[in-house]
Amino acid sequence: MTTHSAAAEQKAIEADIPERKSVVDDFAGYRALRRRVEDMENAGLENPYFQPRDGVSHSVIRRNDKSLVSYSGYNYLGLNGHPAVTAAAKNAIDKYGTSASASRIAAGQIDLHGELERKLANFLGTEDALVFISGYLTNVSVISHLLARPDAVIYDSGAHNSIITGARLSGAKTFTYPNGEWDGLDALLEKERPGFRRGLIVAEGVYSMDGQILDLKRAVETKKRHDLLLMVDEAHSFGIVGPTGRGVCEGAGMPVDSIDVYMGTLSKTLASSGGYIAGDRGLIEYMRYLCPGLIFSVGLSPADTAAAIAALDILEREPHRPRRLRERAKFFRKVARENGLTVGGDEDSPVAPLIVGDDKLAMMLSHNLLERGIEVQPIVRPAVSATTARLRFFLTANHTEEQIQETVPVVARELEKLRRSIA
Ligand SMILES: Cc1ncc(COP(=O)(O)O)c(C=O)c1O
Repeated sequence: MTTHSAAAEQKAIEADIPERKSVVDDFAGYRALRRRVEDMENAGLENPYFQPRDGVSHSVIRRNDKSLVSYSGYNYLGLNGHPAVTAAAKNAIDKYGTSASASRIAAGQIDLHGELERKLANFLGTEDALVFISGYLTNVSVISHLLARPDAVIYDSGAHNSIITGARLSGAKTFTYPNGEWDGLDALLEKERPGFRRGLIVAEGVYSMDGQILDLKRAVETKKRHDLLLMVDEAHSFGIVGPTGRGVCEGAGMPVDSIDVYMGTLSKTLASSGGYIAGDRGLIEYMRYLCPGLIFSVGLSPADTAAAIAALDILEREPHRPRRLRERAKFFRKVARENGLTVGGDEDSPVAPLIVGDDKLAMMLSHNLLERGIEVQPIVRPAVSATTARLRFFLTANHTEEQIQETVPVVARELEKLRRSIA
């Protein structure tokens, strides 16, 4: 065969091959995703996801050489980028390298792991604590290891995906109830409690989508009444709620042992990456030796561990940071009210959702705000239901009152314009 005819034959073969398919072309979830991406492109909207930022997450960020006032990052206390936190991470790399290089139970343990765990336990007032390499993994692995088929996991409609996934993996029964509807939960448990052995209520200190602060008193009453354990995910309340940022127990003025399993992430107030649980000695020992997400995974990296230690030291020394964040959150809601906007969540919660009730409207509003120098993420299906599509503002201690005063009227105006153009 000559070269020429080989090329012609190849061309003929290619002409017969349909456009290369992806292995997921037939997956309903992928088809739905493609439709939504196409809708976004057809509407002339820039994809708001996975957009790279330059530099540290702060109240002003740079993207594509443009400065934007940002409400999408959870550098809540401004400790990401703090010189002492950065220096601690660098020193840890110099001393231990960039990886723990093994599971902690084998050869991955370094002194910093124990130091961070002691400091976390000390800060929270618990007997012990344990750190994992991801906040998400912490929920998945701890919940699925703690409960089994004869048990039950009880969570509400606002539960983070990591809680739901952990509950499903455990094999235990799951019960859900509308967030905050404690009477309804009581009635449900009255009926269902005889049907399971152990039960774990998992609640969030501050709800990551809706911004409410947990009613810890009701949660504890419920757990006691029905003989359950209580786990609280403090991803958005650790370092924020309570006069010194110790979380919902401090905020509610309740004893530390009101909560059986404290959970939190290192990625928000502690300017690092990873997760923790805290509680009594037995619980932590049980997880330290047997929790699959800990023993079958590499130890938290030296830099992440050292950054979290340094951030926690600053949080302890500087309680004005959580205080300032709570003040900014309150201020944001006050200015929102003055501008006719209804923002969800408790007054001093750092998560402030502006529900617009329609995926497309949320995407367009986010896009238009970007053009006006304001960066705030649209939250749409499947993260929330279509009727509760929203812009979610994360307030931080870095935001100034001036930034808030400038942002909110622009949001109100742009929303009004869009509503009018759609009507
Ligand atoms: C309530 C809640 N729990 C757990 C996580 C997971 O934490 P991480 O992102 O640090 O893995 C998040 C993440 O934002 C969260 O909002």
